[in-house]
Order: sequence, then C-alpha cells, then structure tokens
Amino acid sequence: MTCFSFLCGRRLNPPTRHSSELDDEVSGVQNVVLYSYKQLRTATNDFSPINKIGEGGFGSVYKGKIGNEKMAAIKVLSPGSTQGVKEFLTEIQVISDVQHENLVKLYGCCVQENHRILVYNYLENNSLAQTLIGGRNSSIQFSWQTRVKICVGVAKGLAYLHEEVRPPIVHRDIKASNILLDKDLSPKISDFGLAKLIPANMTHVSTRVAGTIGYLAPEYAMKGQLTRKADIYSFGVLLIEIVSGRCNTNSRLPAEEKYILERAWQLHEKRELVSLVDIALNGDFDPEQACRFLKIGLLCTQDFPKLRPSMSTVVQMLTGDKDFDENAIMKPGLITDFMDLNIKSTPKTKDKINHTSSNFLASGSDNLDSSTLSSGTSSQATFTFTAVDDRST
Ligand SMILES: Nc1ncnc2c1ncn2[C@@H]1O[C@H](COP(=O)(O)OP(=O)(O)OP(=O)(O)O)[C@@H](O)[C@H]1O
Ligand SMILES: [Mg+2]
Repeated sequence: MTCFSFLCGRRLNPPTRHSSELDDEVSGVQNVVLYSYKQLRTATNDFSPINKIGEGGFGSVYKGKIGNEKMAAIKVLSPGSTQGVKEFLTEIQVISDVQHENLVKLYGCCVQENHRILVYNYLENNSLAQTLIGGRNSSIQFSWQTRVKICVGVAKGLAYLHEEVRPPIVHRDIKASNILLDKDLSPKISDFGLAKLIPANMTHVSTRVAGTIGYLAPEYAMKGQLTRKADIYSFGVLLIEIVSGRCNTNSRLPAEEKYILERAWQLHEKRELVSLVDIALNGDFDPEQACRFLKIGLLCTQDFPKLRPSMSTVVQMLTGDKDFDENAIMKPGLITDFMDLNIKSTPKTKDKINHTSSNFLASGSDNLDSSTLSSGTSSQATFTFTAVDDRST
C-alpha cells in the first residue's frame, strides 16, 4: 500500500508523502486497514461504470478485486463530507471492531485527500431488495427454510448491535436493501454505523430517508426520537416483507392492500394471516410458523415503543424458544401519507402526515434522556434526530 497503511495496528509501509501531521491523525487508530486511492482505482478499473454495482444515499458502490485476492464492495462516499481524517477514522474503528456472522465485514477504508471510501466484504447474492422483495427479476428461489434462516439471522445481527456491542449501536436504516446475501443466502446487515459519517444537513440525507420511509417508526419519522425501538419497528416491517415476498408499500394494489402493515393487521383481525404468505412458495411452508412470524412482525411494529419486544426476545420468539400473548397485539403504528414528509428542504408545502393511532403523541414522550445526534429540516419545522435513552422503553 502506498498510503499510510496499518494492519492489526502495525504499519506495513511507512507513509510516503506524509508527515507527522498525518501521522498524528492516524495515530491511535488500530485494526483498520487503510487503502490508497490508487489501489482502489486499480481494483475498480478507475471506478468504471462496468464495475458499479449500485448507488445509495451515501454514494456509489463498485465491485473490485483487492490485490488479486478477495473481492470487495467499494463504497465511495459522496464528496463534501466535512469530517476530518481523525473523526472519520474514529467512526471507522468502531465499525471495524463490530463483527458478527450476520453483519457485513468492513475490510478497511481510504481517507486520502478528500476521498472517503469504505471497503467491504463483497456479498455474491445482492440484497433482499433486489432479489426477494424488489420485483421478480432475480432467479433466486427463496424457500420457506431460507426465509426462516434470513429472518433469524437478521434478528441475531440486530440483537448483537443492540445488546452486545458497547455502547449499543442503533442501525437507523434497517430495510431490504441493507440486507445482503452471501453465496449460501445467509443474511448480512450492511451500513451499520454509517449515519455518523455524513453530516446530516447534506442533501443526500433526504434521499436516504426517502428510500427508508416505509420502515420508519412513527416516533422517529415524526419526532426524530431515535432508539433501538425504531430499529425494531423497521425489523418488523422487514419480517412481514420476507414472509409475504412483497414491498411494504405498493401503490398499484387496491387501497386496502397498499400498506403491508395495514393489510397484516386486517388479516390478523379476521384470523386470515396465512393468506399474506408469499404465493411464490406454492403452499410449501409451515403455516403455523409463518403466521407466528407475521404476528411477531406486528408485535415489533406496535405504535407504542414500549410494547415492541427487544431484539434478543424477538430471536427467541422466532426460534420458538419463547411464547408471546397474541391478545397483546394491537394495531401497528403507521404513517400513511409519506409523500409530504420532506426531511430536508426549506419550507414549501405544509406537512401532512397521517398517523393511524390516537395514542401516538403520548407514546414518544416518556421521561427520556436525550441528546441530539444530527438534524435536518422538515417542511414545517426543524427536524431533529434525537438519540434517546431507551432503557425505559
Ligand atoms: N458488500 C456488498 N456486497 C455486494 N453488493 C453490495 C454491497 N454493498 C452494497 N452493495 C450493492 O450496492 C447497492 C447500493 O448500496 P448502498 O448501501 O449504497 O445503497 P442502498 O442500500 O440501496 O441505500 P442506502 O444508501 O440508504 O443504504 C446495494 O443495493 C447492493 O446491491
Ligand atoms: Mg445500503
């Protein structure tokens, strides 16, 4: 590596251009592999469009072989990040230290000049958004057993982030495009820890939120209250998507079927949840288990955050090691009028957010200790994302 490179805390090559200034910036950062820009350019054939595998709110993602060895997904963060090298590397170190079989592995990064690039393990089978949920263009067949493996794996990865990592990590963006699949269709959660790398007032933040909107817990979307319970809500939406094989919002469907959560609730009330299971399975699934998964999805999306189970409890419920009281399931919280939720720009239109539950306003206002993480602006008022101590929720 030509840049300042470290592996397992040891410098492999001394810096070439660089000085004590850069030395200072990277000192103390351990176990993070630093790639040079040149190395990543070579790996991606000068970031050729042929090697581009996707584009998200953070920037473009390329496929490339690092040093003729491992295949990597190279995520080039949008320019303009105001984060300095040290701040950036501090966050990167947090991400690299977090390792679990259901989390995408970060190999390292590049922080040369104004480039901010992340290098991840490449996952062969793309994301759930492009395979199971985003239409039927993919040739992958998701059997019931595979779906069970994916649901349990994602739940375990999230339980690890929430309950084993210290301090806990709230993912903030659990959704189908952030669940990647390896060659055996085992799931890996991607993009944890990224929100802190990008200043919140940058324009692409709104793109990110827009792509995420069907997964947003009401208290997060409307009041910016960010706790682990917001991730659990998103997980609940994802769980129902995986069992049903459809996206959380589909405006081509009749009104009563448009929103997956509303649909699941109606069918639950009529005791017909089984009809929500993906018809692509051709009936080849365990109906009792499938309905249990859908009910757990409803539990995770309860309007009142306190009613949502913790992720470790969700894992036990999914594996059948813990029972739950079906009668405790109430109507899920849902924001139905997404289009006017504009979390970025200067005021133009009046916010219109329909929320299906009357207890919403009470729900987020427990005696919560909060500190601001990042902020944006809604069309009516400053929209503040707030980190909330959820130990009481
Ligand atoms: N490690 C990886 N292995 C394989 N493909 C990946 C990997 N990381 C990302 N991708 C592909 O790149 C696409 C874009 O990813 P990216 O995370 O930038 O955007 P997103 O997940 O669609 O949205 P968001 O920016 O909100 O996370 C993904 O949909 C996925 O197909
Ligand atoms: Mg992503």
